Amino acid sequence: MTTILGIETSCDETAAAVVVDGLDIRSNVISTQVELHARYGGVVPEVASRAHLESINAVITRALDEAGVSLGELDAVAACHGPGLAGALLVGVSAGKALALVLDVPYVGVHHLEAHLHAAWLEDPSVEMPMAVLLVSGGHTMIVSMEGTGRYRILGQTVDDAAGEAYDKVARALGLGYPGGPVIDRIAKDGDPRAVAFPRPMLNEGLDFSFSGLKTAVMLEIRRNPDRPARDIAASFQAAVVETLVYKLEKAADQIGARTLVLGGGVAANSRLRARVAEVAEKSGRRALLPRHDLCTDNGAMIAAAAHFRLISDGPTSLDDGATPGLILPTIG
Ligand code: KG4
Ligand code: ZN
Repeated sequence: MTTILGIETSCDETAAAVVVDGLDIRSNVISTQVELHARYGGVVPEVASRAHLESINAVITRALDEAGVSLGELDAVAACHGPGLAGALLVGVSAGKALALVLDVPYVGVHHLEAHLHAAWLEDPSVEMPMAVLLVSGGHTMIVSMEGTGRYRILGQTVDDAAGEAYDKVARALGLGYPGGPVIDRIAKDGDPRAVAFPRPMLNEGLDFSFSGLKTAVMLEIRRNPDRPARDIAASFQAAVVETLVYKLEKAADQIGARTLVLGGGVAANSRLRARVAEVAEKSGRRALLPRHDLCTDNGAMIAAAAHFRLISDGPTSLDDGATPGLILPTIG
């Protein structure tokens, strides 16, 4: 039995979790900084680092308490070491390394996207490989063929904005606050997705994405028709994003012969995206693996889970390793 503490501080959530054997979540504590950043309309790196520093010890203590696990029972300590905000990452990495050193257990540095890729696995370890994973967050949008831990092929990715970034920017233009994804998701439920025919960017151009032009089209529409209800713009924008994401995910699954469609990252919490992926999976006789909401957005459980498998394949990470804001996802081609 391997008990791992996973720490995540790459952006604006201070999170820690205890996971046993890479699958059994004993606790998953998330302290969000959303309200701190909301007044600035986005994440302010310095504010994020300070807030992580203030809450990291309490978050780790709660994760251990809720799991009923003492420090001495930990077999390894893992922390997200990139990509992310430099100062924010450093808080989690320093806490993780310090704990590992004091407890004399392995330290494991975990790639943030590799952790998101493992979130669905936490739901169901019996899933068949390869999986076609759509990873959609505030900083990334990509389709990955996942053949196992450390066995990833990037099939397509955004050439400009990430999907979550587009949600956040459109929400700001509509005066809906930060973060935009959850608000747009909510108000779009009462809106008409056919009210405005927004473009479906790069729909027939391979598996890459582009959301910058769509975002501009929404801004122009808001300027041209200031009286159009925000819910209709939100629903029409969301329809364009979701249709594009799902179309390409299905195309990728066809290409690699995947029997499972998987979602990961913050935007995977989106209700329309989840419903559409479930629908297309059913139509093509595939499985849809949709992590529950607290495993979609940033959390410590996904870090501990990914660390479990990395520890088996690569062993511990050196304590000389630091945080790498631009860390690249290791792929096999
Ligand atoms: O994975 P995540 O928590 O952090 C990053 O690694 O970026 O993703 C955050 C992003 C934000 O852009 C947020 O607006 C978006 O996920 N998001 C959503 C929803 N919930 C969060 N986007 C659409 N619909 C949602 N329900
Ligand atoms: Zn993330």
